Amino acid sequence: PTNVGILAMDIYFPTTCINQEVLEGHDGVSKGKYTIGLGQDCMAFCTEVEDVISMSLTVVTSLLEKFKIDPKQIGRLEVGSETVIDKSKSIKTFLMQLFEESGNTDIEGVDSTNACYGGTAALFNCVNWVESNSWDGRYGLVVSTDSAVYAEGPARPTGGASAIAMLVGPDAPIAFESKLRGSHMSHAYDFYKPNLASEYPVVDGKLSQTCYLMALDSCYRLFCDKFKKLEGRPFSMSDSDYFVFHSPYNKLVQKSFSRLYFNDFQRNPSFVDEAARKTLAPYASLSGDESYQSRDLEKASQQAAKHLYDVKVQPSTLIPKQVGNMYTASLYAAFASLLHNKHSLLVGKRVVMFSYGSGLTATMFSFHLQEGQHPFNLSNIVTVMNVSDKLKQRVEFPPEKFVETMKIMEHRYGAKDFVTSKDCSYLQQGTFYLTKVDSMYRRHYTKK
Ligand code: ACO
Repeated sequence: PTNVGILAMDIYFPTTCINQEVLEGHDGVSKGKYTIGLGQDCMAFCTEVEDVISMSLTVVTSLLEKFKIDPKQIGRLEVGSETVIDKSKSIKTFLMQLFEESGNTDIEGVDSTNACYGGTAALFNCVNWVESNSWDGRYGLVVSTDSAVYAEGPARPTGGASAIAMLVGPDAPIAFESKLRGSHMSHAYDFYKPNLASEYPVVDGKLSQTCYLMALDSCYRLFCDKFKKLEGRPFSMSDSDYFVFHSPYNKLVQKSFSRLYFNDFQRNPSFVDEAARKTLAPYASLSGDESYQSRDLEKASQQAAKHLYDVKVQPSTLIPKQVGNMYTASLYAAFASLLHNKHSLLVGKRVVMFSYGSGLTATMFSFHLQEGQHPFNLSNIVTVMNVSDKLKQRVEFPPEKFVETMKIMEHRYGAKDFVTSKDCSYLQQGTFYLTKVDSMYRRHYTKK
């Protein structure tokens, strides 16, 4: 099979959200801290009736229906998530309910977990399967889903929630350039979830930012090396039309892009324009460690790269700014934003993707885009995802109600023997939701 990649996509995020400016006021932080400092507009969250299982059921059902995929046509189903609801039973097994009805239980794959990287691991598994000898001609299906919640404090505004489904197969409009992959994996305690009784992570915010940027540098170096071996000439940022990043919050995406720009400058000053060469010259000989600590470099490179950021990155920032960090779904929500904003202009373009999961695991890889054949074409994917309407249908909760929801969720995490609220007025038709958890911890869902 050739041009293996993403044939179809759909995205779901809860309608319930909180405005970041309102949250700033409620938290008593300085005005602009979340909206400008972190670069975030709004944050989606699950109420007591939603979780990663219900969101996954919703998005998979929607994708199969809207692209008219017979459930028997799925041969592999992989889920990427770091939201633990059960330490043994995979989210994938819940999704099997959607396939058993059609008589299809012959579906490989389970869940992949490592922080925000699980979705990429799941996607690679499906792509590798289609490219392998064990492929049986059917589609792969990937689900990336998380509910990202933090304890009260500076990390809380960097939460979010979503589920994304991606259909994988040959002759895809979003094709992998499979030889172009650079990974960086190592051991770090930057963000982890050692407390099994709580949904909240332990996070060293500053360390996680540095780990992210170090992994980015390392992946970019390898990506450039592989490109050079393959193409016989060096890679620079002008070789890719768009750069899409895992987006914990938008400020880090701005910093990441300018970091790549600084990398290009260090590799060969002629890769950047003349004004940027002047701006960056004072930092040319900084060591790696110094460069991560230098606030002046950060500011200078952001300024030098701004014009390119607006062209190559900004179109991918819509959903991450509106919905927040969706952990495993965050990178793919950013990519969905690019499709949404630029669909008709993407044919023939290259998109470089950077996936990061704390702990840590990271890969840079790339897509080559084509229009594709109906229903698996870029414009149909954009129509099905219907991002504008989904953003419009949202319901902003006041901060008191948001905090109360977080409290309820804390009590419900790992609990049994409860029924959920009957008020589901804010859910759209077709949304799956949790009705109860019985005395054996079995979870019951229904569809609105
Ligand atoms: N107006 C404008 N900007 C402001 C304001 C204001 N009123 N107040 C603060 N800022 C800026 C700061 O200058 C800073 O910007 P800078 O980074 O360009 O210097 C930014 O807002 C953040 O403020 P800080 O005080 O530096 O950081 P804070 O203590 O608020 O924590 C952090 C931010 C570390 C991101 C925290 O939210 C966190 O721990 N989040 C979770 C970890 C995370 O997402 N890590 C990313 C990779 S790992 C992953 O994906 C989970």
